Amino acid sequence: MQSQQAYAVEMQSIYKYFDDFCALNAVNLKVKKGSIHALLGENGAGKTTLMNVLYGLYKADSGRILINGEQVEMKNPNVAIEHKIGMVHQHFKLVENFTVVQNIMLGKEVSKAGFVLDISRARKQVVELSKTYGLTVDPDAKIEDISVGMQQRVEILKALYRGVEILILDEPTAVLTPQEINELVNIMRNLTEGGKTIIIITHKLKEIKKSSEYCTIIRRGKYIDTVDVKNVTEQQLASMMVGREVNLVVAKTKTNPGDVVFRIDNLTVEDSRKIERVKELSLSVRKGEIVGIAGIDGNGQKELVEAITCLTKVKAGRISINGVDLQNTSPHNVIKNGITTIHEDRHKRGLVLDFPVKYNLILENYNRPRFAGHAILHEQAIHKFAQDSISRYDIRPENCASELARALSGGNQQKVIIARELSDNPELLLAFQPTRGLDVGAIEFIHSALIKHRDSGHSILLISFELDEIMNVSDRICVLYDGRIVAEFQQGEVDENGIGLLMAGGERKNGI
Ligand SMILES: Nc1ncnc2c1ncn2[C@@H]1O[C@H](COP(=O)(O)OP(=O)(O)OP(=O)(O)O)[C@@H](O)[C@H]1O
Ligand SMILES: [Mg+2]
Repeated sequence: MQSQQAYAVEMQSIYKYFDDFCALNAVNLKVKKGSIHALLGENGAGKTTLMNVLYGLYKADSGRILINGEQVEMKNPNVAIEHKIGMVHQHFKLVENFTVVQNIMLGKEVSKAGFVLDISRARKQVVELSKTYGLTVDPDAKIEDISVGMQQRVEILKALYRGVEILILDEPTAVLTPQEINELVNIMRNLTEGGKTIIIITHKLKEIKKSSEYCTIIRRGKYIDTVDVKNVTEQQLASMMVGREVNLVVAKTKTNPGDVVFRIDNLTVEDSRKIERVKELSLSVRKGEIVGIAGIDGNGQKELVEAITCLTKVKAGRISINGVDLQNTSPHNVIKNGITTIHEDRHKRGLVLDFPVKYNLILENYNRPRFAGHAILHEQAIHKFAQDSISRYDIRPENCASELARALSGGNQQKVIIARELSDNPELLLAFQPTRGLDVGAIEFIHSALIKHRDSGHSILLISFELDEIMNVSDRICVLYDGRIVAEFQQGEVDENGIGLLMAGGERKNGI
C-alpha cells in the first residue's frame, strides 16, 4: 500500500515574471493534508498569482509543484481539476442572468438519457450540498439579484459539486458579514474533518487566528516564513506581512460637527422585483462628521447607495445636499452637487478594467479643461495627475499609470478608486465597503485618508459590513436592519456586541 503523504500541496521555489516584473521570487508553500493553511501578504504581494500558478491559470517560469507527493505539471486548470483542486476566485466568475443551480452545473452538466439536461437532479444535489455544509442559498434565484455574499456561497458550492479535495479560497471573507464568517469557519472545519485541505487567502488577522493552523507569509513576491498560528499574535502577523509596525486601530480626535449637509427623509426604495428594500429611512450627516451605517449585507445597503447615486429611482422620500433635492435626477447631477462614491463592486461600477490606470483616475472629470480641450486629451497633464495619485495613495507598482487596471491586484484597484473619488474634495464621500479586500497597511492608510477628509471639514457616509471598520472610523453609528435605521449611537456609547445584536434584528431601540 502506498504510504500516506503528509503534504497535499508542495510548491518549491516558484518564480513568475510578468514581462520583467518578478511577481514571485522563489516562493515555497507546503500545505499539510487536512489542514487549513492561510496565505498572508500585502496587496500585490503575489498571493493570487501563486494560487493561479497552483490552479494552472498561470505557468510558473520555474519551480516544482507536487500534489500528494507526485510532481505535476500544471499546464492548465483542467490538470488542476483532475487533481481535485478547486479555486474560488477573488472576483467571482458567475453568469449574471443564470440561476444559482444553472451556474453550479455549468461545465459539469448532468443529463438524462445522455442528452437532456437534468436540472431537477442537479437542483436536488445542490440543495443537499448546501444543507450538509450550511451554505444556504436560493437555488432558483438569478445571480444578478443576489448579494455578493450569496454569490460567494454559490462559488463554494460549485467547487464542492465538482468533488474537490484541495480548495483554494481567495479572500473568501472580504465579502462576508461577521456571522457569515463564523459560518464559513465552521464550514471549513467540516471540510477538513472530512479530509479536505484548504488554502485560504485573507488579510484578516483575526480570522487567521480563528480558522487556520498554519500561515505562510509572502512580501513583495518573496517568501518570508511559515508559522504555527497558535504561536503568534495578530500584531506579529501584521508586522511580518508589512515589514514594519502597523496601527491596527486608526488614531483619530473627537470631532465637532457643523450644520447638516446631507439628509435623507422618509426614503422608500424598491428593488427590480418591486420589493421594498429601504423603508421610510431618514438620516442626516453634518459637516465634518463621519456617519457609519452598520448592518448585515442584504438589509437595504445596496438599494440605499443606488438611490443616493441616482442609479435607481426612489418610490418616495427626499435625498438632499445643502438643501438641493437629488432623488430621481442623474448620477452626473449627484457628482456635480458634491457627492462622490466608492461603490461596493469595484469591477461593475468602479473601474473600466481595460482602460489604463491613468484614465481610470479621471473617469469622472476627464472633460475638465486641464485634462481635455478641443476634443483631445492632454496626455501629459493626465499622466502627471496619475503619477501624483499613485504616489500619494501608494498604488503599486509605482510605474503603473499606463498599465491596464485589470493588471493591478485587487487591493491596488481599490486604491485607484479611492484616489479618484477623493481627488476633488467632495463635500460628501459615500463610501460603500471602502476597504473591502485591502491589507492592514492599506486599511490603515485609507482610514486615515477618510479621517483627514473629515478633518478638513467634509462629510462621509460610510456603509460597511465590517463592524470593526464602522466602530473604528465613525463618529456616529446608525444600525440598518430590514431597510430601516433601528438605532443610532454616538461613538463610544455602545460596544460591538450591542450593535451585533441589533444588526441581527434584536430588540429595537429608539435613536438617542
Ligand atoms: N496578469 C498580470 N499582468 C501583469 N502584472 C500582473 C498580472 N497579475 C498580477 N500582476 C502583478 O503581480 C503582483 C502580484 O499580484 P497579485 O494579484 O498576485 O497580488 P495579491 O497578493 O493577490 O494582492 P491583493 O491582496 O491586492 O489581491 C502585482 O504587482 C500585480 O500588479
Ligand atoms: Mg489577490
